[in-house]
Amino acid sequence: MTIQGTTKICALIGDPVEHSLSPCIHNAAFQRLKFDYVYVAFQVRREELAKAIQGVRSLKIHALNVTMPLKVDVIQYLDRVDDVVKMVGAVNTILNDEGSLIGYNTDGKGALMALKANNESPADKKIVILGAGGASRAISYSLAEETREIMILNRTLEKAESLVKDLSSKFGNKVRSGKLCRNLLRKELKEADLLINATSLGMHPNEDKTPVKKNLLRPDLPVFDLVYDPLETRLLMEAKSVGAKTIEGLTMLVYQGAASFEIWTGKKAPIQVMLEAAQEKIEAPKSGIV
Ligand SMILES: NC(=O)c1ccc[n+]([C@@H]2O[C@H](COP(=O)([O-])OP(=O)(O)OC[C@H]3O[C@@H](n4cnc5c(N)ncnc54)[C@H](OP(=O)(O)O)[C@@H]3O)[C@@H](O)[C@H]2O)c1
Repeated sequence: MTIQGTTKICALIGDPVEHSLSPCIHNAAFQRLKFDYVYVAFQVRREELAKAIQGVRSLKIHALNVTMPLKVDVIQYLDRVDDVVKMVGAVNTILNDEGSLIGYNTDGKGALMALKANNESPADKKIVILGAGGASRAISYSLAEETREIMILNRTLEKAESLVKDLSSKFGNKVRSGKLCRNLLRKELKEADLLINATSLGMHPNEDKTPVKKNLLRPDLPVFDLVYDPLETRLLMEAKSVGAKTIEGLTMLVYQGAASFEIWTGKKAPIQVMLEAAQEKIEAPKSGIV
């Protein structure tokens, strides 16, 4: 890669960012396609966000990814957001279009593409989604457009109810909510065609945690876990052990990155290159990740 006067800069902003896979995924794609782009990561604390966005404008940085804890706060500094962001209330992708900052959210699209890449079409399914945070909001919106029925279960019931209320104006009563508890899980999973974990349960360093006990899983219930660190969560391991199909969160991470790449470059993303770069990075010893 030759960095020169014309090189377009794309960056991740958030806090922390040092373990992010995004620089590795995007730089692999830029290099393979010989694009004059580079991707870097900037640690930006919440209180520095306004100045950081001013810097993006002044330095004419071409594009951003936005991660925790800035995904919601950043909206106030943008010139426009797309319809998905209006519903989801969070931005993970920004394009600097000749000085105008436009916000997008590619998480929902990434989840849909990951499912389809694994031959799991959401069409005419009952999907149970666990969690009602930012990721759940994004994927619930995208899936509701394509599926028959969605049940959102969350530890804090009010958050699930508020998400369903937001979705109901567009999707009527095909999306429902409930409290994430054993009894309701048992009842809802009985008729479910797909289970998606959008909680952070099972994520490093709490690998021993799982949102669903093994005895509620079954061979004909595919499980998609958004958590990608570790690659195979306890939920996915247990689903696999009962004979169920499993889909890893890393696939979604790569597809949401690919959707950002396409917004920034106007060109098709090299998915396989991005997937291999992410796998290589995540499988590297943790001490080697800087
Ligand atoms: N693969 C990808 O591309 C991708 C993209 C985005 C996010 N993710 C992953 O998805 C997960 C959620 O991310 P997010 O951005 O939605 O986070 P978030 O907004 O902080 O939401 C966290 C969710 O997890 C639930 N939760 C946390 N601890 C819990 C516990 N002990 N018991 C039950 N529920 C618990 C929360 O429930 P309450 O509302 O009750 O607190 C909430 O629903 C993270 O692991 C993140 O890494 C993956």
